[in-house]
Amino acid sequence: MFMSSQLALKNMGLILRFLGSLLVLDSILHCMVQAKVQYYDFVLKETNFTRLCSTKSMLTVNDSFPGPTIRVNKGDTVYVNVHNKGKYGVTIHWHGVKQPRNPWSDGPENVTQCPIPPNTSFTQEIIFSDEEGTLWWHAHSDWSRATVHGAIVILPAPWTTYPFPKPYGEQTLVLGEWFKGDVMAIIDEALATGGDPNTSDAFTINGQPGDLYDCSNGSTYRLLVNYGKTYLLRIINAVMNEEQFFGIANHKLTVVGMDGAYTKPIVTNYIMITPGQTMDVLVTANQSPSLYYIVSTPFADTTAPFDNTTTTAILQYQGKYTAPSSIPFPTLPSYNDKAAADNYTKLLRSLANKSHPVKVPVNITQRIFMTVSVNQLYCPNASCSGPDGNRLAASLNNISFQTPTIDVLQAYYGHLSKVFSNDFPKQPPYFFNFTGDVGNNTLYPSLGTKVLTVNYNDAVEIVYQGTNVGAAENHPMHLHGYSFYVVGLGSGNFNNITDPKSYNLVDPPLVNTIGVPKNGWATIRFIANNPGVWFMHCHLERHASWGMDTVLVVKNGSTRETSIRPPPKYMPPCSKT
Ligand code: C2O
Ligand code: CU
Repeated sequence: MFMSSQLALKNMGLILRFLGSLLVLDSILHCMVQAKVQYYDFVLKETNFTRLCSTKSMLTVNDSFPGPTIRVNKGDTVYVNVHNKGKYGVTIHWHGVKQPRNPWSDGPENVTQCPIPPNTSFTQEIIFSDEEGTLWWHAHSDWSRATVHGAIVILPAPWTTYPFPKPYGEQTLVLGEWFKGDVMAIIDEALATGGDPNTSDAFTINGQPGDLYDCSNGSTYRLLVNYGKTYLLRIINAVMNEEQFFGIANHKLTVVGMDGAYTKPIVTNYIMITPGQTMDVLVTANQSPSLYYIVSTPFADTTAPFDNTTTTAILQYQGKYTAPSSIPFPTLPSYNDKAAADNYTKLLRSLANKSHPVKVPVNITQRIFMTVSVNQLYCPNASCSGPDGNRLAASLNNISFQTPTIDVLQAYYGHLSKVFSNDFPKQPPYFFNFTGDVGNNTLYPSLGTKVLTVNYNDAVEIVYQGTNVGAAENHPMHLHGYSFYVVGLGSGNFNNITDPKSYNLVDPPLVNTIGVPKNGWATIRFIANNPGVWFMHCHLERHASWGMDTVLVVKNGSTRETSIRPPPKYMPPCSKT
């Protein structure tokens, strides 16, 4: 009796071990199925496009605007061979793709690589890990991203599905910005004079300005739907300089994801989406079959010049009905409705369920307090076109980032000196009433290529503090190589005693870009488990151009698996090396 039950136990152990190895085998097979590798060719070249009654030549990928969509399953790897057949050097960035241990293919100009020279190619390896939903890619050199961008659709891994009923159809909606002029000339001129860059002439939805602009109503983008069906809209804000309110007449939006991660569903009439962000939205075609306007309009609560025009597309029911005499138009918040913007952002929560758990760092090992400011630099004889003859600038912790001529990654990896310094400060040079009457406090930033270095696996907290220096506004802060939890958002000066009490450590949204409220603050947290050299910047392009940037260097861990991968055989050359 005793013996046999022992034998039984032993047999049971063997059976369990056998089952165990089957499970291991199964998960290996599973991984093999998941680890799909895909190849794309991106040919960058000048192409003629006509919008708003005028034609211009502009840089595109594969002759299209927006550019081609990369479509993968979670966990895939993609090689993109980027052929530059344009006139100037360009880089491409995969916005929101974490690229574990692989900053070499991340793309920001002179941060992780030098530009791809004309008539050469560079193959980038894009490693997907836990991202699922929608991201995008864009050029990351000067202002070329205005015309060089496209969607990245990340479907659930094989054998898994969405955390919501499978939609009947899905469509990517890329919000863009149209400049009649040459975008590169616009930023070059602004940087030469020190003044504000020209604003755009239109916004676009999937490349089309829509019915409210000249010469545009023949080509307005139409989203065809069937009555009673639900559609997943993948909305990408690829606009250069303005946040956007977006809505569809008579239709509720249900937000289910953002920046490649799922959210708790939010039912709303409008969203506020900053440049850099993506939002996945379900829409059910449950209204009388007809036409309805899809509208995107700027949120720009600022004294800075901005494009105050409105782009439209049409949600069009299929089937027979009499077209309405006037197409219903949604009511969206007005351009300066800060409360509407902030209220929406505060609704965002991670899905936070068993299959999509959240792990918010609680024992912080790196605390950083970072002011986000628009500033000015002196110009000799007040000869610049900014305020008081000064030059417009921007900064983080009062350092206006100076882009080096050799990329920071190469300098860091190869121990080159004099390219950057390691002393980005963990707090501003001094504290003042950041969001009130700032007087002349830090109107004039210092210049430098200072990077912020943290250890592998540090639990990092950054409090972004918007300031009233120069012109206050909402700043969409973006970090490469990571998604981060937004644990708190607030107005005014951050209070380090009372404000942390309001932190959401249960289901904060996991994003790669967060709009720091105008004259307010936002706190983010993440574990620094991706070694590399990662750009951090405001995603309003003019602010990034003026120096509202820094670089986060995450040191290697102690093993090969926790260290930066070795560089690929070929990297585009830096002209100054
Ligand atoms: Cu959308 Cu530095 O990136
Ligand atoms: Cu900004």
